[in-house]
Amino acid sequence: MIEIRNVSKRFKKGWYALKNIDISIAKGDFLFLTGQTGSGKTTLLRLIYMDIFPDEGEVAVAGFLSSTIKEEEIPFLRRRIGIIFQDFKLLKDKTVYENVAFALEVTGQSGRKMREKVMKALTLVGLSHKRNDFPYTLSGGEQQKTAIARALVREPFILLADEPTGNIDPEGSEEIIKILQEVNTAGTAVLMATHGVELAKRMGGRFINLEQGQITTK
Ligand SMILES: Nc1ncnc2c1ncn2[C@@H]1O[C@H](COP(=O)(O)OP(=O)(O)OP(=O)(O)O)[C@@H](O)[C@H]1O
Ligand SMILES: [Mg+2]
Repeated sequence: MIEIRNVSKRFKKGWYALKNIDISIAKGDFLFLTGQTGSGKTTLLRLIYMDIFPDEGEVAVAGFLSSTIKEEEIPFLRRRIGIIFQDFKLLKDKTVYENVAFALEVTGQSGRKMREKVMKALTLVGLSHKRNDFPYTLSGGEQQKTAIARALVREPFILLADEPTGNIDPEGSEEIIKILQEVNTAGTAVLMATHGVELAKRMGGRFINLEQGQITTK
């Protein structure tokens, strides 16, 4: 589903943010991406959702290739990938329900089927009772659950999470990882970048560790 083949990325001449990366992610995988600040985690995720492109090597995602994808195809690729961030990126003037529904509305969906999908996603993250609340009234963990529901409602084959627990207390963090594990059990691959190695180790799963842009364990 995702093949990263001998990928290198330079932001500055002669200096590699990522070097000779090979990763293969299959349907149903749960992977933690660890490494110190600046080790290249966010850069790797951006290469997968094709926000940036490799200087060497190739990224293949759901049949799209980094070397040949056209600008107008990128939104279609993104629809197949769920992305969540440390800072949630919710729309402040929309309720929980509306934030999730919006992800489908922009793809042209509406009506009863759309409403059912939104409620299913909110139920999965345990937030259906907060559907009419606005983001500013929610805890950090609840905001992240909303962001997860918004990512999942499009039924992506993989969920990319960049420090999803970075703004959440330890208990809430464990809850978020448990939700991601449930999402994974239901058939969606998950790639989660995190500083929280200890927590990740406790939760179990496969690890990829980056050090100065290179993989040190697999
Ligand atoms: N657009 C850019 N221009 C120049 N350098 C960049 C750019 N994006 C990232 N870098 C550099 O590439 C390296 C890897 O950055 P990246 O954001 O991938 O690290 P990270 O592992 O996600 O770190 P953190 O844990 O702090 O989020 C860093 O040294 C960073 O400064
Ligand atoms: Mg980062």
